[in-house]
Amino acid sequence: MIGTQTTIERPPAQLCGHAAFRHDVLNGLGLPKKRIPCKYLYDERGSALFDQICELDEYYLTRAELAILERHVDEMAEAIGPESEVVELGSGSGLKTRLLLGQLVEPRVYYPVEISVEPLLRSAAELSEQFPDLTILPVCDDFTADFELPPAEGPGRRVFYFPGSTIGNFRPNAALRLLRSIARLAGPGGGLLIGIDIDKDPAIVEPAYNDRLGVSAAFNLNLLARINRELEGDFDLDAFEHRAEYRRDEERVELSLVSRREHRVRVAGRVFAFDDGEPIHTEDSYKYTLEHFGRLTGRAGFAVERQWFDSDRLFCVQFLGVA
Ligand code: AVJ
Repeated sequence: MIGTQTTIERPPAQLCGHAAFRHDVLNGLGLPKKRIPCKYLYDERGSALFDQICELDEYYLTRAELAILERHVDEMAEAIGPESEVVELGSGSGLKTRLLLGQLVEPRVYYPVEISVEPLLRSAAELSEQFPDLTILPVCDDFTADFELPPAEGPGRRVFYFPGSTIGNFRPNAALRLLRSIARLAGPGGGLLIGIDIDKDPAIVEPAYNDRLGVSAAFNLNLLARINRELEGDFDLDAFEHRAEYRRDEERVELSLVSRREHRVRVAGRVFAFDDGEPIHTEDSYKYTLEHFGRLTGRAGFAVERQWFDSDRLFCVQFLGVA
């Protein structure tokens, strides 16, 4: 062996993130139907704007899910059982995570899985203050790709917590793939506690993505500002309009940024032409019927053990067992 270096250092997470962002943006803007993966909406500014969305009068999702949790968390804890392992997809230091962990009987270990390292470590530190006896093992990984966990040790169930209707960001095929890998990692006897937004009257859904204060628009447009900041882009934000369309036939809200005129934009040295009215697709948000969601989770190997609704039946939290 030559030299003293015995470990190979991975490039810093930030650099990996930057290269992937650049690749995905250049690739997405080069497609005949321009699209950029929605995970890039959530940089620091985007995450702050999303927190503001959750406070909006029109955005019923967060309030409804929290109401369900507040009312039924004891039943959820009962379904999960004692000495469980909890795996949360996304770094949860929020109210929902604390409510759930606080109700569980002697949880063995909590794994938050989150792609950005700072929020992951921050929330893990916050939680360890509140739950000093809980073993917290942060996992810095992209759960939308294949990810791994140490095998479950028992004796309780390994349960994934996936709140917020984040599953709604995935197209059905990708959702199926993710649900299957959750089922595999949860193992026999494992479970999944998941929040889903339900198909409903467009008069309720559309304002949630098109609020009066324009926070949803700012959230969506921040993607272009982020490209300008991080990828030497020259997007004129005034040349794009936020659009949120509930395509009920497809059970999803489609978010896009629509060019207001014919023009060209430069990103990382490359030039992209936009027609007047041409969209960049930025996010899908599925609103499943219970029947369709049941079919999806069934194909992934889950069976519904329990489900809970808010009083207006806007939102649903399900506890699914690995069949
Ligand atoms: C984070 C997927 C739950 O789809 O409602 C909110 C994201 N985008 N407003 C949703 C979002 C625009 C949100 N989820």
